[in-house]
Amino acid sequence: MFNEQEKEAFYKIIHTRRDVRTFLTDPIPPETIMNLLDAAHHGPSVGFMQPWNFILITKEEIKARLAWAADKERRALAIHYEDGRQDQFLSLKVEGIKQAPLTICVTCDPTRGGSHVLGRNSIPETDILSTACAIQNMWLSACAEGLAMGWVSFYKKADVRDILSIPPHIEPVALLSVGYTEHYPSKPILEAANWEKRRSLTHLIFHESWGTA
Ligand SMILES: Cc1cc2nc3c(=O)[nH]c(=O)nc-3n(C[C@H](O)[C@H](O)[C@H](O)COP(=O)(O)O)c2cc1C
Repeated sequence: MFNEQEKEAFYKIIHTRRDVRTFLTDPIPPETIMNLLDAAHHGPSVGFMQPWNFILITKEEIKARLAWAADKERRALAIHYEDGRQDQFLSLKVEGIKQAPLTICVTCDPTRGGSHVLGRNSIPETDILSTACAIQNMWLSACAEGLAMGWVSFYKKADVRDILSIPPHIEPVALLSVGYTEHYPSKPILEAANWEKRRSLTHLIFHESWGTA
């Protein structure tokens, strides 16, 4: 179905994609933004419910308010760490909302498709999982387009609902900063900062039952 070159390109994107927090302010061509959104919209979803919406934010004033909500949360979360770890946490750059020319708020509508979406009756959070699949598609598409993307989840949902006039039943799943960058990391930023490292895959694989290596 796919030749060797196509497969190679696919895995190259998977391995190259990074979470990015440093952006140039250069604008993004509208057709490229549509490519990202179209990639997201072709993600899988439980019962094909397609629970997502995409709020495109380019106005400086709104980005500043979102950046404020993220920074407030970042400072609040610092209490979970002690001593040196807290200083290290506070020194991490965890978002680039004001720098990036575009922020996309991806939302999930749990009511889309009615009360009996096929497959969602057993595990209600499959609507959020579907939205995350769309976001990952968008992230890979951004990488293929030479764009950087950063997922920001440091915020109180109520703040984001207020700032973007999102109704109470709609979940703001992610704020995604999108733009070009001169600093596309070659490894995860948290790995470079000695915060966390990639675990060994072989230790995560079990055979036939939990815990059986
Ligand atoms: C659900 C989710 C939420 C995330 N939230 C944040 C965030 O608020 N701030 C941040 O700097 N990175 C955030 N990240 C990015 C992760 O830190 C990053 O994916 C991880 O360190 C691995 O790096 P990589 O994406 O470059 O491979 C988030 C990622 C995911 C999947």
